[in-house]
Amino acid sequence: MRTVYTRVAIATLLGAVLGLGAGCESPKFNPKGTYRIAGVRVTGKLLNDGWEAYTMYCAACHGEHGDGNGVAAAGYHPPPRNFTKGIFKFAGVNGAGKLPSDADLDRIIRYGLNGTPMLPWDIPEYERRAIIQYIKTLAPLPDPKKMHDKGYKTPISPWYAKNKKQEPLFVPASKDPYEVGGEAKALEIGKLVYHTKAQCLGCHPSYLTTEEYGSFLKKGLEIGFMTPGSTLSPREDAYNPQGKDSVDYKSRLLPPDFVRHPVRSVRVNCPGAARGICPDSQRLEDFYRIIANGIPGTAMPSWQKQLKPDELWALTHYVKWLHDKQLPGGDARAFRDNLLAQPPYVAPEPAPAPVPPVGEVTPSVGDTAPGAEPGAPAAPAVSPATPAQP
Ligand code: HEC
Ligand code: HEC
Repeated sequence: MRTVYTRVAIATLLGAVLGLGAGCESPKFNPKGTYRIAGVRVTGKLLNDGWEAYTMYCAACHGEHGDGNGVAAAGYHPPPRNFTKGIFKFAGVNGAGKLPSDADLDRIIRYGLNGTPMLPWDIPEYERRAIIQYIKTLAPLPDPKKMHDKGYKTPISPWYAKNKKQEPLFVPASKDPYEVGGEAKALEIGKLVYHTKAQCLGCHPSYLTTEEYGSFLKKGLEIGFMTPGSTLSPREDAYNPQGKDSVDYKSRLLPPDFVRHPVRSVRVNCPGAARGICPDSQRLEDFYRIIANGIPGTAMPSWQKQLKPDELWALTHYVKWLHDKQLPGGDARAFRDNLLAQPPYVAPEPAPAPVPPVGEVTPSVGDTAPGAEPGAPAAPAVSPATPAQP
């Protein structure tokens, strides 16, 4: 609790010093009015209170105008969210690219984002509600007069499309089939999905030993996760993630290594405890939600439609199992050291491919599979399930 209060105090002080205090300006919204934002009716008083609380707690990082350029934001990577764009990463709605519902934003504010400067906020329910409604007016700031009463007719903001309703909260497509006593099976299938069918290792690290590649090739073929003629050809730097540029977020984002980096949208802390891990921390549902939905605006695809529900659940168990290795007493370090000590993987010769037509580009050395002879054609990679771009 103490850290939270200290942080609140610092934010308040910062706000006061910088003259950010909402009291310096007249209220933005008609205090007697009612407004409609994304299907929710709110009073002008609530929005003004939200503005005040936002200025006090959030503006230092997210900026006075919500553009993510607050005084304390410099050097944060990824930077604090720019609310004027109306794009969010960790929304728990059905389908990628949708706007978070109020409950979603409340989850993010209460629990924070694991491993980032976006810490959990222990502020009263009324203030959170007010901040949430206020944040929605920032993308882009609509004319409060037009918003008033009848709703906002011109959908310049993603939140204000006419008759816009709240997105329904995300519900998994099926019950977890491994819930009771199925953990070992889930890990076995999940590991296969990760390294063969879904090819998560195209961006995230591989967690297979050199020896395992061969048996995974065989199992993958048997179970239909791979097609005959394909082979596993891990990236050159397979035990490290590969950074991906994001146009929407104007930055290079690193897909996490699950045994080293935090999965941000997973609730690790109890609400109200800025540090420390709750007994019921690391919920499976949090892993499922982010893997199913993907991260809009980044290379992280949505997997809900690409995998069968059972495969998605198995994969979720596997990713959580990897992430749990980072918990106190976990073997994350030894697990990774073992992988780093692996001899290089030499892909088996692929089945002879048809002779390429004359004039086709010869692969350059950089395109060859790791361990293959320079100049030899790259081993055809497994064709991954084509992920839906969020
Ligand atoms: C110390 C800096 C800091 C403060 C203070 C702060 N945030 Fe953040 N916030 C961040 C950063 C950094 C991110 C981006 C993290 C990322 O993308 O991994 C973020 C992200 C978010 C997101 C985006 C989640 C998504 O799905 O994209 C929301 C919503 C948010 N903050 C709300 C708030 C609210 C509300 C407050 C005030 C109560 C607040 N933040 C205070 C740093 C801060
Ligand atoms: C095309 C590249 C790509 C592929 C393939 C990919 N990811 Fe990601 N993933 C990313 C990137 C990039 C990020 C980080 C985005 C960011 O920083 O906002 C990420 C982030 C994540 C996160 C962290 C979310 C959080 O809350 O912090 C999880 C979990 C995840 N990926 C799981 C998976 C799984 C499981 C697969 C395979 C089914 C997969 N990813 C396939 C690129 C990819």
